[in-house]
Amino acid sequence: MKIKLLILIISSNLYASSYGELLFNGNCVTCHSTNELNKSAPTIKEIQNIYKSAFPEKKDFIFYMSNWVLNPNKEMGLMDDSIKKYKLMPMLGYDRETLEEISAYLYDLKE
Ligand code: HEC
Repeated sequence: MKIKLLILIISSNLYASSYGELLFNGNCVTCHSTNELNKSAPTIKEIQNIYKSAFPEKKDFIFYMSNWVLNPNKEMGLMDDSIKKYKLMPMLGYDRETLEEISAYLYDLKE
């Protein structure tokens, strides 16, 4: 029993990474790629940079980002140039908890 549990822990670390990552890959990556190839929206690196400089604290980053994605609007957007270039992001209808998971993943995301 102990051995099984250990294997489960090890394999989930290796393969699943995080719940936030799964959610991001399922819901956001179609528009926000992690590299420069897709240009229908800013890459996630661009978003992360701007949000991190505005909200260096993880909890503020999560709070602001999940609120914005819950209800995208020009007034509260940090990325005016992107809004002009790509048009405002559509409202997607995810709940706050899901968006908080995704935002936490995006805060921690490394290259
Ligand atoms: C249909 C395409 C599309 C999908 C799907 C999408 N986005 Fe976006 N997103 C955009 C576009 C276009 C912009 C740039 C314009 C803007 O800021 O509104 C953007 C901008 C953003 C911004 C920056 C907002 C600002 O201006 O401050 C955040 C944060 C963001 N997206 C998060 C997400 C997350 C999280 C998901 C998944 C739950 C997601 N997006 C899914 C198209 C999309």
